[in-house]
Amino acid sequence: MTQSLTIPRPDDWHLHLRDGAMLQAVLPETARDFGRAIIMPNLVPPVVTGADAAAYRDRIMAALPEGMTFDPLMTLYLTEATDPADVRAAAESGLVKALKLYPAGATTNSASGVRDFDKVRPVLEIMAEIGLPLCVHGEVTDSDIDIFDREAVFIDRVLDPIRRATPGLRVVMEHITTSNGVDYVKANDRDLGATITTHHLIINRNHILVGGIKPHYYCLPVAKREEHRLALRAAATSGDARFFLGTDSAPHLDHLKEHACGCAGCFTATNTMPLLAHVFEEDGALDKLEGFASRNGPAFYGLPVNAETLTLVKSDTATAFPAKIDTPDGPVTVFDPGYPVHWSVQ
Ligand code: DOR
Ligand code: ZN
Repeated sequence: MTQSLTIPRPDDWHLHLRDGAMLQAVLPETARDFGRAIIMPNLVPPVVTGADAAAYRDRIMAALPEGMTFDPLMTLYLTEATDPADVRAAAESGLVKALKLYPAGATTNSASGVRDFDKVRPVLEIMAEIGLPLCVHGEVTDSDIDIFDREAVFIDRVLDPIRRATPGLRVVMEHITTSNGVDYVKANDRDLGATITTHHLIINRNHILVGGIKPHYYCLPVAKREEHRLALRAAATSGDARFFLGTDSAPHLDHLKEHACGCAGCFTATNTMPLLAHVFEEDGALDKLEGFASRNGPAFYGLPVNAETLTLVKSDTATAFPAKIDTPDGPVTVFDPGYPVHWSVQ
């Protein structure tokens, strides 16, 4: 028996596309299913200025295969040297849709991130004034804070003070991984949203560590206890418009993940929509997938819902997703949920 679900073409509100050969290899995996994506700026060197973002957008469009349509929504990497006038111009031209805040040292290529939040205050003021969202990697980096507590501590010590000091600042808590993140969003009904990844709806920390270390399940923020995964599932499938899809699909070459010091990131661009259909169906919430993947994100960013549609079909046979995507520098492993999935994109 075949079941199907047609939704407006979804968007990915948090995506790593990288550059060069990797960009070429992974872009079609997203553009096949998604209309738009918020493009993370953590290249080496990072995308800091409006000019950097314009050049990166051109490289993305040049890498898009013939016949595919995709609209990359560009972001700037907030540094202590970011020029408020450049931010204003890049936003007002329509090129830049958000700024990204990485606490320095929090994750991949975050060395240029913010150490002293007072130094970025003028930029945050401009953003509040023009309504430009701040996408936040919400983890403290203090060595004395346990990695599993870093999101909860960030909310108390950094995020809440920033929001109180900057009324009107629109914030997206990126890739929330805890019930603390869910609760903070729910307790604040203005100017706050959160993205949730596909993989954090599927794995908890046991999946990374039990029965041998699984480098392809390691990402940042690291997956937490089961009770947190369940809180994320409840938020994503609730229909609450403050929660929307941001895959954080983050490709790394296999040899750099299967390594003594493996990189953080799960690559989910290839199979995200079928995996989400499985998750939402499992929770009796297939009717909420459209909001999570196609409607809530555009509403937060003040953009129209995509006019095209995407159809997901469920069949009796399990879908055979590719295990890896090839790049000239080696393969990238596609996220494996660890169970059969019967949904696919038509
Ligand atoms: O797992 C992650 N990978 N988390 C991030 O915040 C960055 C990303 C990357 O760029 O690889
Ligand atoms: Zn990310």
